[in-house]
Amino acid sequence: MQRTSRKKEHIELAYQTGLSGRHGFEDVKFVHNCIPESAFSLTSLNTVIGGLSFSSPIIINAMTGGAHETAEVNRKLAIFARECGLAMAVGSQMAAIKDPRTIESYTVARQLNPNGILMANLGAEATVAQALQAVEMIEADMLQIHLNVMQELIMPEGDRDFRGVLERIEAIVEAAPCPVMIKEVGFGIDFKAAEKLATLGIAALDIGGSGGTNFAKIENERRVDRLDMFHDWGLNTTQSLLEVAPLREGVDIIATGGISNGLEIAKALSIGAKGVGMAGYFLKLALQATEKEALLAIEQLHHQLRIVMTALGVDRLEQMGAQPVVISGDTYHWATMRGID
Ligand code: FNR
Repeated sequence: MQRTSRKKEHIELAYQTGLSGRHGFEDVKFVHNCIPESAFSLTSLNTVIGGLSFSSPIIINAMTGGAHETAEVNRKLAIFARECGLAMAVGSQMAAIKDPRTIESYTVARQLNPNGILMANLGAEATVAQALQAVEMIEADMLQIHLNVMQELIMPEGDRDFRGVLERIEAIVEAAPCPVMIKEVGFGIDFKAAEKLATLGIAALDIGGSGGTNFAKIENERRVDRLDMFHDWGLNTTQSLLEVAPLREGVDIIATGGISNGLEIAKALSIGAKGVGMAGYFLKLALQATEKEALLAIEQLHHQLRIVMTALGVDRLEQMGAQPVVISGDTYHWATMRGID
């Protein structure tokens, strides 16, 4: 079964390839405040995304489901989500829609975390009926629709026709019983595309920039005639965030792409994000760490974020966007060339 073995390969290859780290956050620097008048104990990580209340800005982003082995990964991720109060997205549910025998590899995420924020996930080829089925399958609080043109083009068995996406998303947004988030999978979203998507009534936009898990590399590992020249394709996470930040009053922006510590989370929030998604980082914890180690690592992320907040004199996450930052290097070059101030 092609789809099932692809799911397993993606996990193995994503794990081997790791996060590239060229997300651009090294170009973003906070301006230190030596008299912050703050207290660590007063920092709050609560936030509102797409009208839902989150107790952490961190989302365990969409990865898997659809094969027996992937149920174990979703089981572990669901425990992380429940124990640390993180929202979680399951991977694309098309596998379960096409083959209901795999449904349990997704529903495990709801069974283990009945009260957590759980997101359904499908590609932009989905019909309204499939979108409704995905939401119902896991009693999702939010629906993610992913855009992955470059991944599909490099994937040997991938789609080659990308017409009609905006119409399909609009119909899904209209019919969905929950807020809809549009997401990239690691090639970023530019201002123009974000502007079009924002007019469709979506609740959130996950820019999914490059600099973390690299699907060009992953799909190339699955090809005989490699297309290595595309390994650097796309907008990285900071470039993409700067592109879409002007739209943040109308749509909640999520930053995903190579994020792996609390300082990077804080930087993402300072340049327009309301929350962050992390996938590769959690995959590594699920595959490599004991449950205890993983929960400690997640609490460290929260701790690191609170350190930044305290140092800057910020006690609520919504104040992070007003913190001054200095942008240098390639990110500054990108912003200048694109006319972003
Ligand atoms: C993904 N990602 C993903 N996204 C999506 O919307 N649907 C999916 O089914 C998958 N599948 C998937 C499998 C694996 C193994 C990984 C690592 C990732 C993409 C993911 O949600 C995220 O956008 C990217 O991985 C970038 O984030 P990181 O990994 O750099 O934090």
